[in-house]
Amino acid sequence: MKIKDNIDTFNSLVKRRGFIWGPSPEIYGGLAGFYSYGPAGMSLKNNILSLFRRELNILGFGEVECPTVMPEIVWDASGHLERFIDPILKCNKCDSVYRADKFLKNQLPEKMIDGLSFEEMETLISDNNLVCPSCGNSFEKIEEYNLMLKTQVGTDTIAYLRPETATTTYLLFNRLDQVMRRQYPLKVFQYGKAYRNEISPRQGVLRMRSFDQFELQLFISKEQEYNFEEFEEVKEMKLPLLDWKMQDENISEPKMRSLNDAINNGILKKPAYAYCLFIAHHLTKKLGYSNEVMRYRQHSPNERAHYADDAWDLEIQTQQFGWVEICGIHDRTDYDLRRHGDFSKNDFAVSMGDDQQEQEIPQILEVAYGIDRIIYTLLETSFSVKKKRINLKLENYLAPNLVSVFPLVSNKKEIVDLAKEVHHSLQDNLINSFYDGSGSIGKRYRRQDELGTPYCITIDYDSLDDNAATIRDRDSMDQIRVKIEKIPDVIKKRLNESKI
Ligand code: GLY
Repeated sequence: MKIKDNIDTFNSLVKRRGFIWGPSPEIYGGLAGFYSYGPAGMSLKNNILSLFRRELNILGFGEVECPTVMPEIVWDASGHLERFIDPILKCNKCDSVYRADKFLKNQLPEKMIDGLSFEEMETLISDNNLVCPSCGNSFEKIEEYNLMLKTQVGTDTIAYLRPETATTTYLLFNRLDQVMRRQYPLKVFQYGKAYRNEISPRQGVLRMRSFDQFELQLFISKEQEYNFEEFEEVKEMKLPLLDWKMQDENISEPKMRSLNDAINNGILKKPAYAYCLFIAHHLTKKLGYSNEVMRYRQHSPNERAHYADDAWDLEIQTQQFGWVEICGIHDRTDYDLRRHGDFSKNDFAVSMGDDQQEQEIPQILEVAYGIDRIIYTLLETSFSVKKKRINLKLENYLAPNLVSVFPLVSNKKEIVDLAKEVHHSLQDNLINSFYDGSGSIGKRYRRQDELGTPYCITIDYDSLDDNAATIRDRDSMDQIRVKIEKIPDVIKKRLNESKI
């Protein structure tokens, strides 16, 4: 099958099986950048969230949740009103608008565009005589476009929908300092919606205007950043790193380096920041990506967000969109707390060690995931078609259904009753089971393969005599016969083995 056919089959599967629909609202023609999740998509999302919550609990993180709307002063303080901008090109003749960096990536695919300044992009446009693709008019200059979505609260308060969860987490700092008993680093995460008024979003769920973030924050002292105990346990871990100097030399293949080696060579400055790369890697590997589709790409100084002193993107290689960022790891220094302290007239300097006399404003290290991007890249990288058979090889603990139970036929009451009994006993054992009693058995298997269901259990005529059923494995398609009373334990054992 050709790549294009594969992508078409994949895109149709995502809709057909109820993962993602849109742009929403579909019945009114859709608004670009807004998507909805169907039952399979929500189930996958909830499983990802449960996995992250479980892993972060083990790593000592607490969870918070804040409002998605915040008054103007918050975004003045955070710097988003002034500096959260995209470069855009406006055509004076036909009014088309393009995001300048995306436009250049399309027009000049061989050039490295990430990290170029506005002036450098303008030079590329004029040197290459690039014109408006819609009408052929030449562009004048790159303009700034703010990504914040503005709203009004009550009759007179200007507010903005948050463009990231992170800022709203920082506003809780004095509460967290107290409730977490000054045990630095404070480790906190927040999951929830964020909003960005993207200019003409074109890449489906990769560039949404309303999207889900899952952002981890470490509030940490300067001393801890350089002398970080947990780093010692993970420092030999090797990651595929593509630093910005390599990109400057037009190298696009990352180099496998241990975190320790990256610190010793000055590629990473701080052991605690290197530990954040470990956290990102640990969580991402649990999602089931293979090493071959992962890389860590450092931002050049021009590309970094206004709050970041260092930034690396964890990227996943896709067929449809090339390398896609699913997570950003940022060294935000004391920028955020300093600004919010100044604007709110709070003093956020605290004592951060048992014997520390001097007070300091904590530094912040951040690991910021986009959940929708995880869902898209996970679906794409798990998807395969072989001899017309579609398979979605999701991890057991992420698949929308862990098990699906079928009666072989729907017109024999004893078989239907027994199948329902098996389904309910799995549910009683907290196993996510889906009952499917209609259609040909072949079609039912195919539907579950397309949903990524790892195990299908079929109750047949023999089950009425031997009190056993077949469990069919999604990937190998092997079938084993198991006594019905043992089925929940067999499934639980496989689930637990895959979670380790
Ligand atoms: N909080 C970082 C980001 O939104 O990318």
